[in-house]
Amino acid sequence: MPDLSVTIGSLILKNPVLAAAGTIGYGVEFAEAVTLCELGGLITKTLTQRPREGNLPPRLAETPSGMLNAVGLQNIGLEAFLSEKLPALRDVGTPIIVSLLAESPEELADMVGAVDHAEGAAAIELNLSCPNIKHGSGLGASPEPRTENRSRFVSLVAHEPQAVERMVAASRRATRKPLIAKLSPDVTDLIPVAQAAERAGADAVALSNTYVGMSLDPETRRSRLGAMTGGLSGPAIRPLAVYRVWYTAQTLRVPVIGLGGILRAEDALEFLLAGASVVAVGTAHFADPRAAVKVVRGLERYCARHQLNALRELRGQAQPSAGHGP
Ligand SMILES: Cc1cc2nc3c(=O)[nH]c(=O)nc-3n(C[C@H](O)[C@H](O)[C@H](O)COP(=O)(O)O)c2cc1C
Repeated sequence: MPDLSVTIGSLILKNPVLAAAGTIGYGVEFAEAVTLCELGGLITKTLTQRPREGNLPPRLAETPSGMLNAVGLQNIGLEAFLSEKLPALRDVGTPIIVSLLAESPEELADMVGAVDHAEGAAAIELNLSCPNIKHGSGLGASPEPRTENRSRFVSLVAHEPQAVERMVAASRRATRKPLIAKLSPDVTDLIPVAQAAERAGADAVALSNTYVGMSLDPETRRSRLGAMTGGLSGPAIRPLAVYRVWYTAQTLRVPVIGLGGILRAEDALEFLLAGASVVAVGTAHFADPRAAVKVVRGLERYCARHQLNALRELRGQAQPSAGHGP
């Protein structure tokens, strides 16, 4: 068998395929349909300190080659997750990566500290696509449906290297568990943001979250989403995401988790060739809950076909075209 294993800090993954945050719920819901132990790991839906109802419907809109979502961080809150969901996940046989989002470094450090003490959490992913409250647009404490995306421009922590550094550094002080900083692609230059995460102690950088987008219905003259704007995911964003991994990974020492529109093993291989060490499968789960497991199988077949002993030999090997095309 080819060696597909990879490490994120002190965490050893048996293969480099994760289920992306928010696309397989808390994991528990998928345990019956999918043999989760076949995955390298799974990332939970993002948790906030208090429960959140999320945005007003509709929360999903189809696009020609992807999906717009404006779920609005609906979740049961960290405490309920730790007491009600995590115990059921301990036996699934794959590392559980807990995704967290907070409004301030202090709040994030509190949450990270709580996960640090929890049995069964292998690592923590920091969802840094949270409003940067310094710029005046907090999430609000209300568990009622929110429509914060209605504003024309929401400044996110992941837009600003210093804000990223503060969030990651506070988290680093609160745990020795591996920390993943998940960034937003909606910046002019990802390198300073990714380097800030690395400098502050992140063990890996996930590139990336969804791209802000919108879709309008000319008949009703309304957005197709209750929150007006949403995050674009799926095949439409794959070339954009592969490029950002290639552009950014070369400047980092820590591993990059590449994601955006991965449906099949071929798509995952693009990210690995571009410089990612790990990949995550998201939107593909809505069409096929076994999508990530199928990617693992496909990577094994690719290694056999290309006589690779270890998949990591491929990392960052992308070359320009040999020039035989039109
Ligand atoms: C319905 C939906 C919900 C999502 N929820 C989260 C979330 O809770 N936290 C997070 O960090 N990313 C979330 N994402 C983003 C995905 O984890 C992923 O970064 C993005 O969709 C790109 O990958 P994909 O094209 O394979 O879906 C969500 C995506 C979708 C489609």
